[in-house]
Amino acid sequence: MDLGIQGRWALVCAASKGLGKGCARALVQEGVNVVITARGEEALQRTAEELRALAPPGVQVLAVAGDIATAEGRAAALAACPQVDILVNNAGGPPPGDFRDWDREAWIRALDANMLTPIELMKAVVDPMMARGWGRVVNITSAAVKAPIDILGLSNGARSGLTGFVAGLSRKTVARGVTINNLLPGPFDTDRIRQTLQGAAAKSGRPVEEIAEERRTQNPAGRFGTADEFGAACAFLCSVHAGFITGQNLLMDGGAYPGTF
Ligand SMILES: NC(=O)c1ccc[n+]([C@@H]2O[C@H](COP(=O)([O-])OP(=O)(O)OC[C@H]3O[C@@H](n4cnc5c(N)ncnc54)[C@H](OP(=O)(O)O)[C@@H]3O)[C@@H](O)[C@H]2O)c1
Repeated sequence: MDLGIQGRWALVCAASKGLGKGCARALVQEGVNVVITARGEEALQRTAEELRALAPPGVQVLAVAGDIATAEGRAAALAACPQVDILVNNAGGPPPGDFRDWDREAWIRALDANMLTPIELMKAVVDPMMARGWGRVVNITSAAVKAPIDILGLSNGARSGLTGFVAGLSRKTVARGVTINNLLPGPFDTDRIRQTLQGAAAKSGRPVEEIAEERRTQNPAGRFGTADEFGAACAFLCSVHAGFITGQNLLMDGGAYPGTF
């Protein structure tokens, strides 16, 4: 299927690794020019080289190092992108813990990264997208929005706030060709999940691979998802074929969420 987005420009935030990188890879393969961001310059430049190697002729890959959760990081990312036709919002997830230990600063950090940053970026791009009559926004959130994980209270809270905001805005933009949707990852094989598994291993004294295998077999799919699968879903939501899909929360969890809907 031709996704019909060749030549568009995408800003893919937090994309040197993991799910963001999967989204950037899928878009580049569709002929989309991308600006990718991450804080760590070395991994970011390595990823940019990888993307250039698989990009069709003429497709540009630009890398902007910076913290997307800061005003400066967002300004640099936006300035590098000649025109944001596609915005993929992403940032690292907040740390796990007990809500009794989280002070106001911890909450503000989580809200900044996982709620206010995507809202600020939408604020910057949605009106120009509507003026041009076309745009796509995909927010990477979490399965925790649908089925909260107790130790990830910062994530449950911040991402639910973003989800509520998107539910309202996405109905105001669609008539002008701009859709806004959220992708909710369950367990995906990325650095983030490896860190979580290492934490669980350290806490329980069990080998990390044993815990990973347990998590994989507990999932109805019997495995973790891949960044390529995630990227393909993102690219479809960014395609010309997805113009009637807006305000949705697409859960990608191998069937782990047990509800009928
Ligand atoms: N993987 C899963 O199973 C899973 C499940 C549910 C939710 N999620 C959520 O999905 C998102 C992506 O997860 P992932 O698994 O892809 O993580 P990952 O493999 O750790 O990759 C995170 C990427 O984001 C970049 N990044 C993090 N914070 C950033 C910031 N403030 N500004 C710019 N770049 C930043 C990282 O690079 P630098 O560190 O160099 O900045 C890296 O490129 C996270 O919010 C995560 O919580 C993941």
